[in-house]
Amino acid sequence: MKIAVAKGDGIGPEIMESVLNIFKAAEVPLEYEFVDMGKWVFDKGHSNGMTPEAQATIESLGILFKGPMETPKGKGVKSVNVTARKTWNTYANKRTFQTLHGVDTVFSKAGIPIDITIVRENIEDTYGGIEHMLTHDVALSRRFITRPGSMQVIKYAFEMARKKGCKRITCGHKANIMKITDGLFLQVFYEIAKEYPELKADDVIVDDLCMKLVSRPDVFDVVVLTNLQGDIVSDLCAGLVGGLGFAPSANIGDHICIFEAVHGTAPDIAGKNIANPTALLLSGFGMLRHLGLMQKAAMIENALLYTLENGVHTGDFGDKSTAAVNTTEFANAIISNFGKTPVHNPRPQLEDKPATQTVFKLEKNPLIMSKEMEDEVIVGVDFFIESFEQPSVLAEKLLQHTGNLFKLVTISNRGTQVWPKGSVFTNLVNQYRARFESIEEAALTQTDIAELYRLIMKDFKVCSLEVLNMWAGKKAYSLAQGQ
Ligand code: NAI
Repeated sequence: MKIAVAKGDGIGPEIMESVLNIFKAAEVPLEYEFVDMGKWVFDKGHSNGMTPEAQATIESLGILFKGPMETPKGKGVKSVNVTARKTWNTYANKRTFQTLHGVDTVFSKAGIPIDITIVRENIEDTYGGIEHMLTHDVALSRRFITRPGSMQVIKYAFEMARKKGCKRITCGHKANIMKITDGLFLQVFYEIAKEYPELKADDVIVDDLCMKLVSRPDVFDVVVLTNLQGDIVSDLCAGLVGGLGFAPSANIGDHICIFEAVHGTAPDIAGKNIANPTALLLSGFGMLRHLGLMQKAAMIENALLYTLENGVHTGDFGDKSTAAVNTTEFANAIISNFGKTPVHNPRPQLEDKPATQTVFKLEKNPLIMSKEMEDEVIVGVDFFIESFEQPSVLAEKLLQHTGNLFKLVTISNRGTQVWPKGSVFTNLVNQYRARFESIEEAALTQTDIAELYRLIMKDFKVCSLEVLNMWAGKKAYSLAQGQ
């Protein structure tokens, strides 16, 4: 089997070399095709951080094993790490956090074992990076949560939990505040949960989740979250098991999968051969198992666990009273422990599975859709307009344009209603949302909205607009705070 390998920037080449040396010593039956991705590729003028040849190789091989990559600052380019995950639709980011004996934490010292898998949605949310300045004072980020996107990642999380024999799966969310976006994610979670009756499915608000994770991490099994919340919660979990040096990740898609450590390029220690290669090595085990190489993965992982148990450590963890080894020495220590069995949690030698590497040839972009929506009616529009005036003055001008079709329902500023009711204690910025709805919820057309736009722009700069829909008699939009 052949896979694509990108060494990455900063500590990337050092830790990748160590991991590939371990694989070589273990006679892992993989061939590597090295591809050009990362900071220096940006510097050569490839604005997505990868050469066209790298893209073609990864798309033809289907597996990318990558080191961390730096996003050049201040050049307006997007992170190649995020570009890779999104371009190839690796919708699930799986991050496993386990107690490792030899890596002391407050929990290991208290005898509280941790084995948590975070499944983070990997494509949507604020990671769409769709951001605009609406006025000089007001920035807007669009947060997309889609039903098919949520279904892909949540389905993966349930399948993974079933295969792993987990007991509990938890959805972390903020649906109490983001009722439509996180509400959709949570709804899909419980829809899919019905297909997995053997799993205890529950949900917890993300702030409460953080508190519970740092007090009772042992009660969680699999946690599935949207992208940004998943990112934050998974770094929190890395801290629970000893830090970023022990946090592996797998980006899973239907066609292409990317295996990488959670940590970044660690520029402060790059080039010194002192980085901890464990997170990348753990990510490598995920890749070997994904490819069906169960025995090699278990053999090397047992050697790693044995090495850790015996107190061998790089400078970022372990007993400070014993000397730290460097990256190469750490890798060599693991190699010298091949065939040894750790005292704690030895990995079972499972049978190898048939190779799962499949090469996909796609003719066109897959369109992922859930169900057709019935009874879709346009019932209004939100105009986001620039204004330096008081809400009542604004309302007076807007009311002149409502005509026979529309009524002005509410004006809000930063999401808080300031007209028809509000408080003078609400601070204003120079950008309002004016909500127009149709009289008696009559169906509107896009032309009706365009006509209203034409009238409003005589008085105001319209920064953006959002059409208000009703699906099957239910409002598909949120109310303003205080409405
Ligand atoms: P970082 O993860 O690179 O470093 C944070 C701290 O952890 C540093 O003190 C570093 O020395 C330490 N650290 C990280 N990995 C380590 C290891 N294997 N062994 C020992 N110590 C380790 O995060 P930072 O500084 O925020 O980001 C640096 C660069 O990495 C940025 O350009 C960022 O965009 C990029 N990055 C790339 C990622 C990826 O390729 N998936 C993920 C996160 C950041």
